[in-house]
Amino acid sequence: MIKPLSPKASEPMVNGFDPSHIDELSPRTRQQVVDRERLLGPGYRLFYNDPVEIVRGAGTLLYDADGNDYLDVYNNVTSVGHCHPYVVEAIHRQLSTLNTNTRYIQQSILSYSEQFLGTMPADLGHVMFTCTGSEANDLAMRVARYYTGNQGIIVTSGAYHGLTADVSAFSPSLGIGVPLGPHVRTISAPDRLRHGGDEDLIDSLRRQIREAISDLERHGFGVAAFIADMIFSSDGIYADPAGFLQPVIEEVHNAGGLFIADEVQPGFGRTGQHWWGFQRHGLVPDIVTTGKPMGNGIPIAAAAFRPELLVEFGRNIRYFNTFGGNSVSIAAAQAVLDVINDEDLIGNADNVGNYLKSEISTLADNYEQIAEVRGAGLFVGVDIVTDRDSNTPDGEATLRVVNHMRRRRVLISASGPRGSVLKVRPPLPFSIGDADRMLENLAVVLAEELH
Ligand SMILES: Cc1ncc(COP(=O)(O)O)c(C=O)c1O
Repeated sequence: MIKPLSPKASEPMVNGFDPSHIDELSPRTRQQVVDRERLLGPGYRLFYNDPVEIVRGAGTLLYDADGNDYLDVYNNVTSVGHCHPYVVEAIHRQLSTLNTNTRYIQQSILSYSEQFLGTMPADLGHVMFTCTGSEANDLAMRVARYYTGNQGIIVTSGAYHGLTADVSAFSPSLGIGVPLGPHVRTISAPDRLRHGGDEDLIDSLRRQIREAISDLERHGFGVAAFIADMIFSSDGIYADPAGFLQPVIEEVHNAGGLFIADEVQPGFGRTGQHWWGFQRHGLVPDIVTTGKPMGNGIPIAAAAFRPELLVEFGRNIRYFNTFGGNSVSIAAAQAVLDVINDEDLIGNADNVGNYLKSEISTLADNYEQIAEVRGAGLFVGVDIVTDRDSNTPDGEATLRVVNHMRRRRVLISASGPRGSVLKVRPPLPFSIGDADRMLENLAVVLAEELH
């Protein structure tokens, strides 16, 4: 007999499988869901009403055990495509040769760092390696506090920056189960739709950041840093108007704080035209963090710094990360960089991203429930509402679309605090043909779910 899942596993997540529907699954999937709960405990979540079991990936496709292909319109980790042969070969070669840590001299980490920093403004002169984006943000915040002498942190109200004790305390999207730290303040997401236009948006952000700074000062924390995801992924995906962050950063700098650009989501060319999301806004951050797409699935992440931030910190604090920047993860990262250059994936993100956005916008014109199609490059958000007068987010309708797309073997998801924004974020080699397959399915699904 299959035992019921623990009630804790039903704590909501955007597009999370709801365990109360377990009886609707096939016997095999049901057993696997129960086994996950038994073996992995109640902390994990699955995607979709009908969770997907995949056994293989290639390029922009995933395959189940019966050989059915699924179009991957979601994964930004395997950013240059699933099992890219050049990356696989580079990892294999390095793993068969040497895998050791940063306490030995290795030319590969130096060559990679030179090229990595070469993608950024010259002001960012040092890079330190970690295994995850959470660790990179944790390190960034340690440095920011050490340098500024302040403790306060400002984030957007739907932000996610990671899972360590420190970082989850400034990741409001984790919900009420994870309280924000007393030293954390939030400003609203840069949602121009609900701020009444570009100028109002910029004025509102400026006012909110001033209030947050003075409140932190009033409570004796000061401001160490404003950290923001440069595509505001969990907030609901916001890219425009380019430059809207400039006044926010000025206020933070005037208060003695730093600006940390979290590039874990948009980095490595996803937004098209640039390597990094902050470049779209014409900003030069004090610290940049990245992770997910950096090694195409091999755990590697990094933080890049203005060199002056690390002078005292580096002198007084030893940094060793056992796996961070090891030989194999550097080989993977180098291969990813090579592929992005050789296959012009930034150009592809731009071309196919523009095509996707404009075709989805054309589709959206037929629906009163689609308030906005936005984003940059291959990171597109579709804002679904009850009606365009109130712009009330409609998470339920969005989930219906996501789950219906999954039934048609097109994997997308949702984001935003109410899960009401379709999140279209495929691997970077996504072609016009892939886009057409997604659009044909979306047309059918919207017609059935939004009318
Ligand atoms: C914007 C952002 N920052 C940081 C992280 C944390 O990265 P990781 O899961 O590698 O620790 C994530 C992960 O989803 C993220 O989306």
